Amino acid sequence: MKVLVIGQTGQVGHEVCRILGEKGISWYSPDRTELDLSEPEQIQSCLSRHQPDLVINAAAYNNPVQAENEPSRCFSINRDAVAELADCCQRQGIILFQLSSYRVFDGTKQEPYNEKDPTNPIGVLGNSRLQAEQQIRERCERHIILRLSWIISERRPNILRRLAEQMLVNKEVYVTPDQLGCPTPAVDAARVIVAMVQQLNCGAETWGTYHYSTTESVSESNFAEILIAEASQHRDLKVRKLIMANIESREGIKPPANGTLSSNKVLNTFGVHARPWRSAVARIVREVYDDSKSSQ
Ligand SMILES: NC(=O)c1ccc[n+]([C@@H]2O[C@H](COP(=O)([O-])OP(=O)(O)OC[C@H]3O[C@@H](n4cnc5c(N)ncnc54)[C@H](OP(=O)(O)O)[C@@H]3O)[C@@H](O)[C@H]2O)c1
Repeated sequence: MKVLVIGQTGQVGHEVCRILGEKGISWYSPDRTELDLSEPEQIQSCLSRHQPDLVINAAAYNNPVQAENEPSRCFSINRDAVAELADCCQRQGIILFQLSSYRVFDGTKQEPYNEKDPTNPIGVLGNSRLQAEQQIRERCERHIILRLSWIISERRPNILRRLAEQMLVNKEVYVTPDQLGCPTPAVDAARVIVAMVQQLNCGAETWGTYHYSTTESVSESNFAEILIAEASQHRDLKVRKLIMANIESREGIKPPANGTLSSNKVLNTFGVHARPWRSAVARIVREVYDDSKSSQ
């Protein structure tokens, strides 16, 4: 099987490529000069050139605040390029494995979201993700859509890095006690993706939409407390106080209050178990601070 990964520089894409390599699965990832999703006409020629059996789209426009100011760019990358990708995959008999997000939900449900829950995205970014999913279902039969909760890693902007960096420089850090998610290490998301890909390679015809998140949900404020406990073992933190600010008090676009997802379907269909996230936090915090030390 030959896999083409879009978004190798991203948190999840990077780990997917690394694990594919470890498993001896042949992969290729075009860089932005070869494939820019804001230029959808590049998609067909890229797929024709490399002739993959399966495409993993781990690339996305991911900034919810900026998306409100440039909706056409967000929709072009997240929806229109994905529609074109789905058409090309269908024509060339390629499996499309698309990553998606808890942002297709409004976050008002009290329990973890499952795949049958009604969607109701908030804002431009959430709508672009949902419309991308709809385009794929209409255009490409052999597809997997995998929705993920909060992704954390030592690379690129994410909730862990944002908090860890603020704790180094600010006495007071604002956190949201009523925003819940399942911090999912990028490497864990990649483990699940590659396990699913391996089964598709063995002929599993389990097309459709799946959720994956780690086993424990946490509020942003409790996550910040866990980070302080971990981070203070590595660095002298400036933070003295966490200021609680409810989602409603936030200006501008608000995130879904509940970003937790049930991983039952992925377990029942692919036999892939969800893992806890706590032990990964220590490693990621260490790497974030090692990086910030070396860049000082
Ligand atoms: N981050 C989260 O908390 C979270 C939560 C739920 C779901 N997800 C979903 O999981 C997937 C992976 O997320 P992530 O956090 O790993 O993403 P990420 O770190 O933000 O990386 C995004 C990737 O998309 C690429 N990209 C952006 N615009 C592009 C364009 N026009 N053409 C080609 N590539 C482009 C980036 O390339 P450059 O390096 O060139 O910019 C980068 O490789 C995405 O679908 C995301 O929406 C993420």
